[in-house]
Amino acid sequence: MAGAAVAPSVSAGRRQDYPGGLTLFVFMACLMAATGGLIFGYDIGISGGVTSMDPFLSRFFPSVYRKQAEAADGGNQYCKFDSQLLTLFTSSLYVAALVASLFAASVTRAAGRKWSMFVGGLTFLAGCALNGAAVNVAMLILGRVLLGVGVGFANQSVPVYLSEMAPPRMRGMLNNGFQLMITLGILIANLINYGTDRIAGGWGWRLSLALAAVPAVVMTVGSLFLPDTPNSLQERGHPEEAKRMLRRVRGTDDVGAEYDDLVAASEVSKAVSHPWRDILRRRYRPQLVMAVAIPLLQQLTGINVIMFYAPVLFKTLGFGSSASLMSAVITGLVNLVSTLVSVFTVDRVGRRALFLEGGAQMLTGQVAVGALIGAKLGWSGVAAIPPGYAAAVVVVMCAYVAGFAWSWGPLGWLVPSEVMPLEVRPAGQSITVAVNMLMTFAVAQAFLPMLCRLKFMLFFFFAAWVVVMTLFIAFFLPETKGVPIEDMAEVWKAHWYWKRFVTDDVAGRGDIEMGCGGGAKN
Ligand code: BGC
Repeated sequence: MAGAAVAPSVSAGRRQDYPGGLTLFVFMACLMAATGGLIFGYDIGISGGVTSMDPFLSRFFPSVYRKQAEAADGGNQYCKFDSQLLTLFTSSLYVAALVASLFAASVTRAAGRKWSMFVGGLTFLAGCALNGAAVNVAMLILGRVLLGVGVGFANQSVPVYLSEMAPPRMRGMLNNGFQLMITLGILIANLINYGTDRIAGGWGWRLSLALAAVPAVVMTVGSLFLPDTPNSLQERGHPEEAKRMLRRVRGTDDVGAEYDDLVAASEVSKAVSHPWRDILRRRYRPQLVMAVAIPLLQQLTGINVIMFYAPVLFKTLGFGSSASLMSAVITGLVNLVSTLVSVFTVDRVGRRALFLEGGAQMLTGQVAVGALIGAKLGWSGVAAIPPGYAAAVVVVMCAYVAGFAWSWGPLGWLVPSEVMPLEVRPAGQSITVAVNMLMTFAVAQAFLPMLCRLKFMLFFFFAAWVVVMTLFIAFFLPETKGVPIEDMAEVWKAHWYWKRFVTDDVAGRGDIEMGCGGGAKN
């Protein structure tokens, strides 16, 4: 996502389509995007299942294991997994990814996209090996940090590679496809946990952690065979190669128009020497607010409570180990299928409709989960939940997950990237990725202690945030469906609130010179 600095047509000021279709290179770009999404999703899904497995807990987190056993004998259900060390196992990955994605931006720019993917894949493989062979907590956490570095590099470089290789008309679809692969990765992780938990001998968790190596090998080896993108070649001072590559990638010699735009985009991008400073200017305020608010609010939906901790959560509710892992498979499946709904409707019904409907559905789901758990476990957390009742909890949780998966899931990435004007897009995207990772870390780290203290009220806490974010969308997000990227300034100019920040003389493509030359008024 970060650094995807090419709009369909920058010279003409109107969207135009270029010749060329789905070639082998474009197909390979899709494959890389797929493996990048898969390794990220696999990591999201795998840790919750593993941390709910008894052999894993008793070996690495014996105090949590003991508390869990006490809770099974009628103790407090809400607090049985509350351990900062246990949450650090999950969340360390996201801090590492946050730091790595900032470094990856320079590697991707200086050395080309493929080397970022290669470095990412290799580090990720080292993390898988450490985790699979872990004999102490230090190895586990160090392994997660290495995985995080891999995810940081992959998440930064794969989407950039993808958006540069894909023909412009396929870019939106491929963007949502990346999120779809994340959800597939989560589901595969849930299924693998369900299977490895049944392995006699208690070493199934090792297999769960080590199997992340499969998509990572594809990405590492695959990156060696990938060509560099024309955009990257151009930016690094190889114009002839860039043109030759563009012909090969598009499968046609008729690439003149696209090449001219590519050169123009590259010049603009080079001319903006301080994108980080420019994005703070008043005229970019609407975009800056979206780059920060959307990933922040996406994580405050509480989705990763379910994605990371579904098995732990279901165990907290009194499900057995196997039933907990099965429930996570169910929520994973709902997540995947509902993301598909978004892929096929986002360009027809629009972003706002999905956001608003998804918000209402998530709100209902969160309130219902909180009420159901509160009614049964109360404030003391000492009770058993009967199976029929527990099934009802799973059903409302699925309604909540579906609401997220066709709204804030994919749109949380799509909207910030499509509202950024070219000249500040790399900086804007880096902000979005960094805020997302930071909030993912914060929610992962805070959830188990918060569950222990706020108890069932925790679900009302997230529900309150869903109200805030839905109002935010209703009042502050203009519809961007079908609006060419280069015409996006018009959308802000027509908005009741944001129009005061965007004036005529800086709107439209004409603002590029001003932005580059530093001649801005604010
Ligand atoms: C979010 C992740 C989340 C996933 C769930 C993504 O859009 O960024 O944090 O785990 O969706 O499908």
